[in-house]
Amino acid sequence: MFHYQSPPNLLQDKIILVTGAGSGLGRAAALAYARHGATVLLLGRDEAALDAVYDRIEAEQCPDPALFVLDLERADENNYFELANLIHGEFGRLDGLLHNAGVFAPILPLEHHALDSWQRLLQVNLTAPFALTRACLPLLRAAESASLIFTSSTAGRELRAYWGGYAIAKHALENLAALFHLELENTSNIRVNSLNPGPCATALRRVGFPAEDPATLPTPEALMAVYLYLMGDDSKGERGKQFSAQ
Ligand SMILES: NC(=O)c1ccc[n+]([C@@H]2O[C@H](COP(=O)([O-])OP(=O)(O)OC[C@H]3O[C@@H](n4cnc5c(N)ncnc54)[C@H](OP(=O)(O)O)[C@@H]3O)[C@@H](O)[C@H]2O)c1
Repeated sequence: MFHYQSPPNLLQDKIILVTGAGSGLGRAAALAYARHGATVLLLGRDEAALDAVYDRIEAEQCPDPALFVLDLERADENNYFELANLIHGEFGRLDGLLHNAGVFAPILPLEHHALDSWQRLLQVNLTAPFALTRACLPLLRAAESASLIFTSSTAGRELRAYWGGYAIAKHALENLAALFHLELENTSNIRVNSLNPGPCATALRRVGFPAEDPATLPTPEALMAVYLYLMGDDSKGERGKQFSAQ
């Protein structure tokens, strides 16, 4: 397990966008960031789930979050730039972007992989993080020190038979993160890293492993040390690396 002791004010005054913030790891990260002082921008497609996270943050008297409902499977070019414009108008910058939203599919041989499932896996897991990063780059450039985190998977670091479009999307996402790192190498205020949470008890995991007992897996909350480390200024020197939560 990744070890890091975060100071309570680690993310004071930071503006951080988290995708897929309504459940699982995204929800846990949004709450952890808010509890460390950040204004968290909660992005997802399920408004009720985002509302619940919003209410929880408010109830704990953390900085007021903001909420953006966007379906990353259907979002078009304009949606991403409209979102960036809204953030610019309200906050003027982004200190952190956690690409966390993701979809999984039942484990299947490629020859049985349906085309619509393949397209959805690539759209949400790969194309959306590209499009959102591109739209948000001016906001990240405007920050004093910004952290860009791409959520990967073990399936994105080693090839695994039957993991289909998910594995392909996560491999490509690792390369996307590496490419953004290379292209931003001289942009000293933006650091880019990828993060593999490893197996974790969430709805996404259950799609691939319905028979697995979730009690045998860590909870999202148990994995937050590395999420905090990478988002806070203690990781300023970390660039172009692959991190693992476990
Ligand atoms: N759990 C694991 O074992 C594991 C292991 C390795 C990597 N990961 C990665 O960790 C990340 C978080 O997953 P999780 O395990 O926390 O699963 P999760 O609880 O299912 O969270 C995924 C989040 O992504 C959102 N999302 C999915 N499709 C979306 C869309 N079209 N538009 C907007 N948001 C969308 C989901 O919203 P809805 O609730 O509306 O679907 C949900 O909030 C993913 O990138 C996943 O690949 C997880």
